[in-house]
Amino acid sequence: MRKPKSYYIETYGCQMNFSDSELVEGLLAGGGMRPAPSPDKAELVLVNTCGVREHAEQRVFGRLGALKTIKSGADFMLLGVIGCMAQRLGGKILEQAPWVDLVAGPDAYRALPQMLDELAGGNAVQLAQLELDGKETYEDLRPRRADPISAWVPVTRGCDNFCSYCIVPYVRGRERSVDADTVERWVRREVEGGAREIVLLGQNVNSYHDGDTDFAALLRRLDKVEGLGWLRFVTSHPRDLSDRIIEALAQCPTLCEHLHLPVQSGSDAVLGRMNRGYTRNYYLERVRALRQAVPGISLTTDILVGFPGESEEDFSRSVALMEEVRFDYAYTFRYSPRPGTRAGGWDDSVTDAEKGRRLEQVIALQLLHTRGALEAMTGRVIEAIPVREARSGDGKLQARTRSHFNVFLSADKSTVGKLLKVRITGNTGMNLYGELAE
Ligand code: SAH
Ligand code: SF4
Ligand code: F3S
Repeated sequence: MRKPKSYYIETYGCQMNFSDSELVEGLLAGGGMRPAPSPDKAELVLVNTCGVREHAEQRVFGRLGALKTIKSGADFMLLGVIGCMAQRLGGKILEQAPWVDLVAGPDAYRALPQMLDELAGGNAVQLAQLELDGKETYEDLRPRRADPISAWVPVTRGCDNFCSYCIVPYVRGRERSVDADTVERWVRREVEGGAREIVLLGQNVNSYHDGDTDFAALLRRLDKVEGLGWLRFVTSHPRDLSDRIIEALAQCPTLCEHLHLPVQSGSDAVLGRMNRGYTRNYYLERVRALRQAVPGISLTTDILVGFPGESEEDFSRSVALMEEVRFDYAYTFRYSPRPGTRAGGWDDSVTDAEKGRRLEQVIALQLLHTRGALEAMTGRVIEAIPVREARSGDGKLQARTRSHFNVFLSADKSTVGKLLKVRITGNTGMNLYGELAE
């Protein structure tokens, strides 16, 4: 065996995983490997996986099956599984997919070049998932970014919240923050490199802290970086949404008028069993404070239906909360038991059919609310950044708004990456249409 010369990375899961893939790419490209355009042209294929729901893992096993076919048709190809599912299942992945050559969890990426050396030296399958070291931040690595306009900057890794349904704390380890000087340096580098938008990342990003620098202080510091267009961050935990952060949102010009604030449920009984650390009233109070400080702020959320013991009454509290807040968008999920989590050992009592019915109901309700939010924007002039030519092929550009919607507009390709004023002319129910306003 020899060392692979080219790589291809396929990524599943959340933005943190996509950001990690950019770091791994940086590591591999820095070591002299070149990116391949597709898996069948790559000598190393890495699948960066998510384990948050069972369905996510099943998809990966399906994909590994397809990659086996590609591998057996190739002269030389190594296959690796990295990310959260690699951390959760470790060597068990090889029982189901013995054609896999290496397995590495989220804290083990520095070991990848060495693992490839070992494989080249004839050593068998490489496993480096077992120890989460709890301190790794990869802050010295240079990502190889795919998106020239928007740059992810991971500022915390791991999570200490242990929501009872969630696998993340087990596969990502304890929460750690990158020191503030490093974050600022990273942001400056990205802005100098042409990024218009910076997205700060963390599982629980707003609990960031480095000495005296809390998240609000970090935001204020980054807001002053010269040349920065937009600043945003995901994912915020309602419990850690301090008044100081809300003030920063109101006062920092670069901070976008958008917040993703997962509520999960509108029932106090369910929130308690989920170990979310807040009540329905607390959440609604934070929403009021946000809307008072930042009028028109776009709010998006996650809704989890069918949690163990969620009664019809509990579920109706989630629906009522959605009605009360009227989110701009909601990511909706049906509960999936995760072995090893606290709730994973509880009676998964809501039937599949009932989970499906509840999911359909919240999806339909959210579609109405999203459409209403888009309609209310007709005629308004807003800031948008074109990110690419629209896939529709009608010559339109696809742009992003500060409120995180897509807007399709007729404008010259040369405007890609520029901050524009756009008048909203209509919507598709999920995306906006607009025209240049000046
Ligand atoms: N750190 C973020 C994201 C966590 S995972 C946060 O706290 O919001 C993203 C979403 O997946 C969660 O918000 C939750 O709604 C959903 N999720 C997590 N575990 C799940 C499970 N076991 N079954 C179904 N959905 C789940
Ligand atoms: Fe999971 Fe809760 Fe941490 Fe989010 S805050 S990653 S849902 S444990
Ligand atoms: Fe999935 Fe890991 Fe993100 S479990 S949601 S990829 S942190």
